Amino acid sequence: MTAVSTTNLFTPLTLGDLQLPNRIVMAPMTRSRAGAGNAPNCMMATYYLQRAGAGLTITEATQVSPQGIGYPDTPGIHSYDQIAGWRNVTDAVHAAGGRIFVQLWHVGRISHPLWQPGGELPVAPSAICPRGEAMTAEGMKPFVIPRALETEEIPGIVEQFARAATNAAAAGFDGAEIHAANGYLLDQFLRDGSNQRRDRYGGKPENRARLLLEVTGAVCDVLGAKRVGVRISPDGTFNDMSDSDPVSTFGTAVRLLNQIHPAYLHVVEGQFDCKLLRGAFSGLYMANGGYDFARGNAALASGAADLIAYGMPFIANPDLPWRFANNTPLAEANPGKLYGGDENGYTDYPPVVPQPASRPGRSECD
Ligand SMILES: Cc1cc2nc3c(=O)[nH]c(=O)nc-3n(C[C@H](O)[C@H](O)[C@H](O)COP(=O)(O)O)c2cc1C
Repeated sequence: MTAVSTTNLFTPLTLGDLQLPNRIVMAPMTRSRAGAGNAPNCMMATYYLQRAGAGLTITEATQVSPQGIGYPDTPGIHSYDQIAGWRNVTDAVHAAGGRIFVQLWHVGRISHPLWQPGGELPVAPSAICPRGEAMTAEGMKPFVIPRALETEEIPGIVEQFARAATNAAAAGFDGAEIHAANGYLLDQFLRDGSNQRRDRYGGKPENRARLLLEVTGAVCDVLGAKRVGVRISPDGTFNDMSDSDPVSTFGTAVRLLNQIHPAYLHVVEGQFDCKLLRGAFSGLYMANGGYDFARGNAALASGAADLIAYGMPFIANPDLPWRFANNTPLAEANPGKLYGGDENGYTDYPPVVPQPASRPGRSECD
């Protein structure tokens, strides 16, 4: 008789030195509501506070430097105001009993000269123009051919992530997730559709993984490996991504990551056979992509995952863990209000049980 695991979404978990009361993670989601200077505002503090019942919250993608920006009203973590804005967010989440990691992001070729300091070209592993359009403050514009980074410039990219990690600690985050998914800079280096370099950052999978490894090492040096996660999307095609052999590319990257021991690997699973990655990785495995309550529990019970990240379900259900625990129907998000705008479609989705007005950390930063 085979032993049946009773692990489910409400089985507590130790992540590094953090105790998670449940395995329901709020997935990173860009909502494009940051304020002046790409600083998090009080509305964002309210939004994250409302969702603090997650075992772990991962913030929306947050640019590590002015060069890393690619979308309107997305927050950064490279200026004083941005750090101060994030401090309001982390304080609110902590006051409500939650834990929160920041997702560190550099968009690479998905930017546009209109975003870049001095109107320069966006940077990338290779001068390959993605198909599609950039979202600029002047509307949609065709992507441009990016400038391939010189080998000597790469330590500067690693430094951008390291400095952002230092700032994350100053802002009160519990840790950081490195965004190596969805066609942004680190993913552009990983995959051979966007990386055709001839130096030690291109060619074989070990080389294409080198920047991710260096960035992960630098962020772990700042925060401690137990406070760091890495997100990948092995078969994602968003942002015109492709790879000739994703099993080899991502299998190699994950095996190499083991040498640094980040606390978790977060996989946007798609149709990829993720057993390979789960088996190859020595830390915790966080699964994402189209999970509901039943599938999440099944993945945990079978040992296919240690944590489940939920994206869309958290938008209209701020109290998602409570709804799961109480078998309460889920609300649907308004698709027209995902990106940009005000409280509407952002902080005005009600919890099933109204929160007491005196709840600690309540409010728009007061
Ligand atoms: C509005 C929205 C914004 C997103 N922004 C990000 C982001 O900033 N960083 C990221 O890694 N993924 C982002 N994603 C992807 C989600 O993290 C997640 O992978 C996706 O929604 C699939 O999970 P789900 O089926 O539970 O929604 C975003 C998804 C949505 C719906």
